[in-house]
Amino acid sequence: MRNTFINRSILFCIIILLLLSCGKQDKVKIGFLFPNMVSDRYQKEKVYFSQRLQELGGEALVKDANYDDKVQINQAKELINSGAKVLVVNCLNLNTEAAIIRDAHDKNVKVIAYDRLIRNCDLDYYLSFDNEKVGKLMVDYVTKIRPNGNYVLLCGDKGDQNAVFVKKGQLDALTSSLSAKKINISYNVFVEDWSGDNARIAMKKFLDLSGEIPDVVLSSYDGMSTGVINLFKEYNIQPGQVLMTGQDAELAACRNIVQGYQTMTIYKSVKTLAYKAAEIAIKISNNEKIAEATSKVWNGQIDVPAILLEPATVDINSLKTTVIADGFHTESEIYGK
Ligand code: GAL
Repeated sequence: MRNTFINRSILFCIIILLLLSCGKQDKVKIGFLFPNMVSDRYQKEKVYFSQRLQELGGEALVKDANYDDKVQINQAKELINSGAKVLVVNCLNLNTEAAIIRDAHDKNVKVIAYDRLIRNCDLDYYLSFDNEKVGKLMVDYVTKIRPNGNYVLLCGDKGDQNAVFVKKGQLDALTSSLSAKKINISYNVFVEDWSGDNARIAMKKFLDLSGEIPDVVLSSYDGMSTGVINLFKEYNIQPGQVLMTGQDAELAACRNIVQGYQTMTIYKSVKTLAYKAAEIAIKISNNEKIAEATSKVWNGQIDVPAILLEPATVDINSLKTTVIADGFHTESEIYGK
């Protein structure tokens, strides 16, 4: 009788312990590698991604490589060793970072290229926007206002496939105007690190050497547009004199649009992107297939299953219905009211 009682008590304790250990189950760890934390957008994306992942029962391990691809490759190793089941990588160098995929696959970790493609590797997924369309939207907008004239192309960092995609979208959209000699490309350069300072230096060289003020600057990123607009102010170039594009709907760019210094920007909902990354990372960690990866993008080695979100044009008339309506910036941040 006494023995039965002891046995039952032991069994009861074991069941309680099992239940407790189930409750304490480790959260699935997902690594996120950012290229830097300087851009407005990355700070927001870090928060969006971590929040959504937490809602889904995961835990985000986040690192930022401060513009150094070698650092990023080491950070990937660290996250794999810390138990990350999936890596989400916003890469710094489209060529060197194939190493991350090799290291990850050795340990059975899957990799999502986030926003930027990684070339020549057996990448698992690519999640981004339609970057060629970004370039096309810029050209469609400015050619309606200035169908003729001298255009300058300020492209992004050539170690980022997005810079190449955007440029391709621009050139494709310009083809007929170029062959009809309505538009002439006066200058065309890739800007290291997508940096505003580097864009400014390149544009200053162009202005000083050519003595020409272009009709349009097809700048691929707001940070570069802001650098060049500040230079134009020093050269006494008036708002609207040179049409200026951009991308990312950064706060400074939205303010410049209101003041007439910048013509348009491309808004990409980074909240949608970061949420989607968290959602598919969790599915991948459960070995689920990602049915919504309906596109394919060639990375030099394989056709990578891809999800490509839609970019949108923003100008002075649509700031309220896009960027502000989405809560990306508030009205008072942009208009100072
Ligand atoms: C690119 C991206 C742009 C911009 C840029 C600089 O990869 O497509 O939208 O964010 O990086 O951060």
